[in-house]
Amino acid sequence: MVNLDIRLKAVYDLAEKCDTFLDVGSDHGYLPLHLIKNNIINKAVVSDINEGPLFNAKENFELYKMRDKAKFILTGGLRDIETRDIDAVSICGMGGELIISILEEDKTKAKGFDYLILQPMNSVNLVRKYLYENGYTIVKEDLVKDRHHFYNILKVIPKKDNREFDEIFFDLGYELFKEGNENFIEFIDYKIRVNKKIIENCKSKNSENAKRAKEKAVDYINRLEGVKKDYESKRCNRVY
Ligand SMILES: C[S@@+](CC[C@H](N)C(=O)[O-])C[C@H]1O[C@@H](n2cnc3c(N)ncnc32)[C@H](O)[C@@H]1O
Repeated sequence: MVNLDIRLKAVYDLAEKCDTFLDVGSDHGYLPLHLIKNNIINKAVVSDINEGPLFNAKENFELYKMRDKAKFILTGGLRDIETRDIDAVSICGMGGELIISILEEDKTKAKGFDYLILQPMNSVNLVRKYLYENGYTIVKEDLVKDRHHFYNILKVIPKKDNREFDEIFFDLGYELFKEGNENFIEFIDYKIRVNKKIIENCKSKNSENAKRAKEKAVDYINRLEGVKKDYESKRCNRVY
């Protein structure tokens, strides 16, 4: 069977044993195929909004003789999916705003799963904020790097998060900070570099907008440095 790439392997690793698993926007179907093959799940519901990807998923399930283990549904988001007997869902490899719109469109269904695995390709800050403000808790996170790209993977339960944390963690991931992650510091350094570039670009401009952008970037770098310092001292304390 085709190996999962680093990003999908991290999604796979966050899945826990259950009976029926829904993969929204499955495309090739690799994630549910691997989950079934390794007995993490018994059955899959595989959905996609486009016929081509759903066809590819079906072909792959045929190829690996697992056709009887899955149901295939051509639809957008959670529309037309009977979720009552589905334990968990993954919505991965899509933009953050699309993921939010899928959760928002079928709130009751989205809140009915034991857990959700979300892997936004961008706007992860908006996804974290949406989850926090809409009665979800991020219980685990991973941050992986593949060919110069960072990927965030969130494991979520439909339960209100009562913790209070600085809003910079919508950008960075509070679970990554709290539990530690091998790519966390590199990710912060990357964000610092991006903001230093903004400052550099603003230097040659005299407009009010450029001044504001520069101030914002300076402030953001200070906050990032603060988180980095806290994280490093926390790691140190843990080692000793
Ligand atoms: C980049 S692929 C990601 C495939 C797989 N989930 C992964 O993470 O590797 C995105 C897939 O989502 C599907 N898609 C896009 N919008 C969707 C929606 N609203 N509902 C369901 N599927 C959608 C696309 O057709 C495509 O097959």
